Parts: sequence; C-alpha cells; structure tokens
Amino acid sequence: MDLRKDFFIFIFISTLGLISGELSATNKKLEWFVGRWRSEFGGKIVWPTVPTMTYGEELIVLEAPMAKSTNVQFLNFSARAWSHTTKDHFHDEWGFITVDPNGNATLMTAGNNGFTTYEVGEVQPNKMVLVLKDIGRISFSRDLPVDDLRRTFIRHDDNYMEQLLEMRTATHPKQGYLEHTRIIYTKQKEL
Ligand SMILES: *[C@@H]1O[C@H](CO)[C@@H](O)[C@H](O)[C@H]1NC(C)=O
Ligand SMILES: *[C@@H]1O[C@H](CO)[C@@H](O)[C@H](O)[C@H]1NC(C)=O
Repeated sequence: MDLRKDFFIFIFISTLGLISGELSATNKKLEWFVGRWRSEFGGKIVWPTVPTMTYGEELIVLEAPMAKSTNVQFLNFSARAWSHTTKDHFHDEWGFITVDPNGNATLMTAGNNGFTTYEVGEVQPNKMVLVLKDIGRISFSRDLPVDDLRRTFIRHDDNYMEQLLEMRTATHPKQGYLEHTRIIYTKQKEL
C-alpha cells in the first residue's frame, strides 16, 4: 500500500470538500443551524427594568471563508433585530461559530450594544445550549454589566427554530438566569 499516495489523496479530497463549500466534519453538527432565519414580529423581550416588547429579527449563519493560517472552518453569524411597534432598530450582532473535535460549539460575537461575548456549549441534533465563558463591555455602555448568559437554540423542524436568551445582570436576578428574549424564526428560502 502506498501510504504517501493515500495521504495526498486524502489532502486533495479534504481540500476539495472545503473549496466546494462543504461543512467540515465537526461543523456538520451545525447543519440544521445554517441558513437565513427570520421572524417579522415573533420575538418577545421581557426584563424587570424595561417594558415588555415584541420584536423581529433576522439571523444569518453561513460558511465563512477559511483563514489558511488557522485551518479552522468558521461559520459567520449575524443577527439584526428591530422593534415591531416602532420599527426602531435594536441591536446587531456579528460573529463566528465553530465546533471543536469534542462536539462543543464556540460562538464569538460583537454587538453594537457594546458587548463582545465568548460562548461555549454542546451541539445536539435538535438543540444547542451556549453558556457565557467570557464577556467584554465598553466602559460607557448604558446597559448594565452582564454577569451570565445562556443562549438556547431549538430546532423544531426544517422550517422553525427558536432562540431563548436567559441572563443575569448586576441587578437581576440574584442567582441563576432570567428569561430575557424568546423568538421563533422561519427558515427563509433564499439566502
Ligand atoms: C459570511 O460569509 C459569506 C460567504 O463567504 C459571505 O458572503 C457573507 O457576506 C458573510 N457574512 C458576514 C455577516 O460576514
Ligand atoms: C462542552 O460545553 C459544556 C457547557 O459549557 C461544558 O460543560 C463541557 O465541559 C464542554 N465539554 C468539552 C469537552 O469541552
């Protein structure tokens, strides 16, 4: 058996896979998460210090170009939200997500609310729960410091996905998490 030849064929096939836009073996777990997801006004914001509001959001997750230096395939992530009643723009988040060989996803986000997050959690066939590992916040943010955050994505079926965001700030709640936003998206046909 010619190991060298096998090795080159292996490299060739793996490279081909990446060039042709396939998810890497580890990122395959996120297949159900990829796409354009939108909810016109199916979101709800609740928090002890703000009035309850409904909102819309568009979430886009796509395979991002790979940096040859790291050789890690990332998916890019963007989320833009708006108020249903006033049509005011809520915050935007941009980021990257990837799955490690242990099957845990890491999501890094930067938002125009002045926060950057680093979230890690397990990817299951119909669910992904991400827990905050680190957070950065601009010193002059109007928002209170966030002490903890947990984000759950639930795949209901091919067309519907739900996101639940729970958090703990400097003032609420004393411990654990409190539900902050919940939204159900519909998968969009066009990217
Ligand atoms: C994500 O990657 C795709 C494919 O390279 C690109 O077209 C798109 O603009 C990127 N989106 C963001 C939000 O960076
Ligand atoms: C995966 O993430 C979960 C939740 O953060 C954590 O408890 C677990 O230790 C992680 N597993 C690995 C192998 O990193």
